[in-house]
Amino acid sequence: MTNTKGKFIVFEGIDGSGISTQTGRLRSYLETEHQIKAILAKEPSEGPVGTLIRQVLSGRMQGINDSSLALLFAADRIDHNNNKIIPVLEKGDYVICDRYLWSTYAYQGRKNDDSWLKEINKYAYRPDLTIFIRVRPETSLQRITGSRFQTEIFEKLDILQQVFDNYLKLCKEWVAAGQEVIEIDGEREPEIVENEIRSVVEHFIIQK
Ligand code: TYD
Repeated sequence: MTNTKGKFIVFEGIDGSGISTQTGRLRSYLETEHQIKAILAKEPSEGPVGTLIRQVLSGRMQGINDSSLALLFAADRIDHNNNKIIPVLEKGDYVICDRYLWSTYAYQGRKNDDSWLKEINKYAYRPDLTIFIRVRPETSLQRITGSRFQTEIFEKLDILQQVFDNYLKLCKEWVAAGQEVIEIDGEREPEIVENEIRSVVEHFIIQK
């Protein structure tokens, strides 16, 4: 097991749940209020496998089935661990990641066996804290269609509903297993959500 000094905070939620806004705000807050150096990360990553995945998500690359896509996400995660996340944590800095393991369980879990997904992700470095921003599929779709011209392959109501249900299940399972997981109501004003995230991070990570 890698010996790291920094903390690894992951944000999860269905499309349109406001994760990207909140990761950026938390990073600035940590730097200005706590003098903690934090980098932003995102999956699919900017690496070679992540770039390939983006082509599948946008529909430009066709013919990749559900299990191949799950394997691509797992490969991207290991590459992302080795080339970005772990070196930063070893330096003692924080990593704030927009999507990680749970995205695979929630999205690829629709069409793949859970135990297989866990197996192919078993070497992925574990987060110190996972923050699930809970936004209902109806709200998320309204936000997506109101703000973007193009949508991706998972941005449909029935799919988002399944993904949302999977996330709720994951929250229950991980909390029961004693993992550090926090669920936050993301349907409120971004500033309110932001303040709640700050308190959670202060409580679970900084003052621990
Ligand atoms: P998203 O995070 O919304 O990024 P962007 O705003 O750049 O489009 O899109 C990534 C999509 O990838 C999202 O629909 C969730 C999906 N995804 C998976 O299906 N499995 C995974 O393991 C990860 C990390 C993402």
